Amino acid sequence: MQEGKKIIFSGMQPTGEPHLGNYLGALKNWASLQDSNEYFGIYSIVDMHSITVRQDPAELRKKARNLFMSYMAIGIDPEKSLLFFQSHVPGHAELSWILNCFTYMGELSRMTQYKEKSLKHADNINAGLFTYPVLMAADILLYGSHLVPIGDDQRQHMELCRDIAHRFNTIYGDVFVIPEGYYPKTGARIMGLQEPAKKMSKSDATNESNVVFLSDTPDIILSKFKRAVTDSGSEIKAAADKPGIANLLAIYCAISKKSLEEAEAEFASAGYGDFKKRVGEAVVEELRPIQQKLDELSKNRDYVDSLIKANAEKAVAASQRILRKVKKKVGYPS
Ligand code: TYM
Repeated sequence: MQEGKKIIFSGMQPTGEPHLGNYLGALKNWASLQDSNEYFGIYSIVDMHSITVRQDPAELRKKARNLFMSYMAIGIDPEKSLLFFQSHVPGHAELSWILNCFTYMGELSRMTQYKEKSLKHADNINAGLFTYPVLMAADILLYGSHLVPIGDDQRQHMELCRDIAHRFNTIYGDVFVIPEGYYPKTGARIMGLQEPAKKMSKSDATNESNVVFLSDTPDIILSKFKRAVTDSGSEIKAAADKPGIANLLAIYCAISKKSLEEAEAEFASAGYGDFKKRVGEAVVEELRPIQQKLDELSKNRDYVDSLIKANAEKAVAASQRILRKVKKKVGYPS
């Protein structure tokens, strides 16, 4: 880790395939923050979070490795940032246990994601699903993180993390940095292409045209955009009664870095069909170099293996400073 720099931390679960929402809400910002002189980035593949829902072990391992390569393919440089599997660093579980003792049942039972997932996995409402946000708080607080680039759906977890950190600091002094969430101006909540009232989600594999995966071929991407639902009328405006068009504009703005007004002006004389085609093409061009890099990395097994090993060691070392302090504060024997 580079001394003197502030820490950025974020993570993604290796479940399902990474999609355009994950990319525009989180991953793309990780890469763009990397070259700042102010921050050092720590990015984890949060595989411990994934087992709150039953997983096929071989599949999970494969997806975790694939996500490690995807982090690199979107531009995270393993020489400039730290990227690792959460399960390789025991400090996450250790700190999570301690923070469990500083988190209230009432707080956890208010979490929207817990409520949603309990409905969806009613046959497996396990304690891990309930305490999931505590593990997420541990991930962030373990490294003294200042900034956490995430999508809008993680806002509530982020607030809880800050509350837990405050509570601990009030009792034991300034042990934790109080982190801030970092949400992109456009792209923090990308909606489904078929159901623009619902966020684009990995677990929505039942309706494939709703979700654009980072691994989709150009033809598939273009056809998903062609089929994207639009709204009544013909104007290309991000209005409240035009959720489909507003979502496509958000995707276009997040990729082109144009403001909403600029994008609306650009498409002022376009029809819906042409507009959807052009947004699809922008996505294809954005993902093309990422897919190429991923393809190269998948052929380079030894290189990736060596990075996974070296980064795990660095992350274990980086996790020790705050963990040691916390253990001492709560009264573990030295
Ligand atoms: P996860 O794996 O569900 O998603 C990874 C990131 O993608 C963002 N995201 C979206 N952004 C915009 N539009 C969407 N439709 C969309 N869907 C997902 C998420 O907000 C997230 O930033 N609990 C976290 C993982 C986690 C974590 C952490 C994140 C565990 N520990 C510590 C940050 C810091 C999660 O399940 O994200």
